[in-house]
This record gives sequence, C-alpha cells and structure tokens, in this order.
Amino acid sequence: MDIFEALLTRRSIREYTGEAIEKEKIIEALKYAMYAPSAHNSRSWRFILTSKKEHLIKISEIHPYAKMLPNASWAVLFCNDLDAEPTEGYGALNVAACIENFLLAIHGMGYGAVWIGIYPRKQRIQAIKKFFELPDNLLPIAICSVGVPAIKPTTVDRYEPEKILKIYE
Ligand SMILES: Cc1cc2nc3c(=O)[nH]c(=O)nc-3n(C[C@H](O)[C@H](O)[C@H](O)COP(=O)(O)O)c2cc1C
Repeated sequence: MDIFEALLTRRSIREYTGEAIEKEKIIEALKYAMYAPSAHNSRSWRFILTSKKEHLIKISEIHPYAKMLPNASWAVLFCNDLDAEPTEGYGALNVAACIENFLLAIHGMGYGAVWIGIYPRKQRIQAIKKFFELPDNLLPIAICSVGVPAIKPTTVDRYEPEKILKIYE
C-alpha cells in the first residue's frame, strides 16, 4: 500500500478477531511513529505497551469509550515527557503527530487500531496515571487499541474544498 492509499483508507477499527499480534510488529509500527515531526526535534513521546488481558479489561472499565479493548491484542499508551518538551503545549502536539504515524503504519501492516483519547480530560489523565503508576513527568495523551480487524470498513469521502478558506498566490 502506498502512502496515498494508506491516507485515504485508514479508519478507526474497533472490532477485532481476537488473534494475537507479535510484540515485534507493534515495535515496528512504533519505529515508524518515531519518525514524526516534533518541536525542536524534542521527540518527547514515550510508550507503554500491554497485551495483558486483565489490563485491557481494567482500562475498558476506567475509560468511558474504550469498550473495544478487551478484544484487542495490544493497548499502546502514548505519553508526553513533560521534562522533554521545549515549550509547554508542544509536547502533546508532538505525541499527536506520532500517534497518527502509528495509526497509518498499523493500517499499512494490515492491522486495525483506534485512538482512545485521554488528554486533555483531567479525570481520564488521573485514572490512567494511577493505573500505570506513571511518574509526574509522564502525561498520558492517548491509548491506541490494536488488533486484527474483524471488519473491513468502508472508505469515506472527506474532501471538503470549502475548508480551504483562502489561497493567496
Ligand atoms: C483526539 C481523539 C480522541 C479520540 N477518542 C476516541 C475514544 O475515546 N474512543 C473511540 O472509540 N474513538 C476515539 N477517537 C476516534 C474517532 O472517533 C475517529 O477517528 C473519528 O470518528 C473518525 O473516524 P475514522 O478514524 O474511522 O476516520 C478519537 C480520535 C481522536 C483524534
């Protein structure tokens, strides 16, 4: 799949077959994720991976929109290292760029994933920090649930030329 096809066909996948995915495949996708741009090249992203069933179940209980997790193969927690961000606020943007790379890589590899939002919701941040016993410098931004897709989602047309407000040339 080339980059243009990946961009046009990526969708959130919330239904999985329950099949396992090797840890090495997730780490490979994280390699692509780490090529994302970041402010001052600060690369403030940090990752925690779990495939433990009890973790997937527990996270689905503490997060209101993560019901897909117990059937996933992996949960990947994306954090921002506050000690590594050059300017307050840029770190979360670094991690967002990294997550999008990850989602596209996972899609390109034939797997399915969905971005489960944490930051900036205070309650979710607190609950996830407590669950993973994160140190103060690690701000959880999102979890990606990853599995073998049980469905083939439709592609959608999202091209909205009216959103290009002005062109100066
Ligand atoms: C910041 C952010 C937070 C999101 N949080 C959740 C979430 O908590 N649970 C979920 O199922 N999907 C979540 N999503 C996925 C969106 O619902 C999804 O991307 C959107 O509906 C568009 O669908 P698509 O990904 O299939 O193109 C989130 C996406 C973003 C970017």
